Amino acid sequence: MSADIDVVVSGVRAVARDVLAIELRDKSGRSLPTARAGAHIDLTLPNGLSRQYSLVNALGQQSLDAYVVAVGLDANSRGGSAWIHDRLRVGQSVRVSAPRNLFEMSPDHRRVLLLAGGIGITPIYAMAQACAQQGLDYELWASARSAPRLAYLEEIKRLAEGRLYLHFDDEQGGPMDLSSRLQQQQWDAVYACGPTPMLDALTNATAHWTSGSVRMERFKGADVSVSDCQPFELKLQQSGLSTTVNANESVLDAIERLGVDYPWSCREGICGTCEAKVLSGEVQHLDFVLTPEERAQQHRMMVCVSRCGAGSLVLDI
Ligand code: FES
Repeated sequence: MSADIDVVVSGVRAVARDVLAIELRDKSGRSLPTARAGAHIDLTLPNGLSRQYSLVNALGQQSLDAYVVAVGLDANSRGGSAWIHDRLRVGQSVRVSAPRNLFEMSPDHRRVLLLAGGIGITPIYAMAQACAQQGLDYELWASARSAPRLAYLEEIKRLAEGRLYLHFDDEQGGPMDLSSRLQQQQWDAVYACGPTPMLDALTNATAHWTSGSVRMERFKGADVSVSDCQPFELKLQQSGLSTTVNANESVLDAIERLGVDYPWSCREGICGTCEAKVLSGEVQHLDFVLTPEERAQQHRMMVCVSRCGAGSLVLDI
């Protein structure tokens, strides 16, 4: 895992019900590596857990004095968000990675729809700030189960006045109807972050949009049943090691079983940390990192989730 900057918690404040904004500064007072909207950092907690959080304040500045992330309390937390909500305090030390951006806005997109669901507002709020700075023609559609649960609500009302559509499930009797709102492609692109049902609905509603115009960041990887998986042979070219990847394990599990220390972070196919170069083999891509074009090239794969569809797999590891 990449966690290489010692930072100290310099601020904690509630920005919605069950959402805390955490401000982090370099421990020795230096500026932090900058990033553009859509970037995330890996945050490694004192309990050893590492989680990815989008930067709320990454706007491509020349230098950054602090990182700000917003953390929603996950009802099914395995120790990340619950630890942050219960135990993280101002003055504590944590480690972060340098920012990485798998959700970067294309400069070719001048008319942009930004779509956020729940805590997915965090990268989308950064994008809205970037759009406003650059004078882009954008709209922001933000939804949550209820108004008190939408982080940065007052900030986005001020920022995106006249460009904002808010939807609260409790007031409108259910989630936003994307299929009726997106019948025609009026934007160069949509950038979306939110829960799986919202992003699945967006995928269906934009099936007729031009290739590359729908960009998403997910919180959670795909659900893959073991019964759908087959064993296959794996060879690590550089290490000279090989093994069978069983149906109930990932390529990453098999790499670790061989004793190779390999970088990973989410193990869900959403962060890009475990990317490997493919030398041969037909990859069955199950991640949310690569674009359809990148998948078709069969040059790279995320070893935490993607598998080999047929024959054997040879990786440059
Ligand atoms: S570890 Fe995050 S994509 Fe594989």
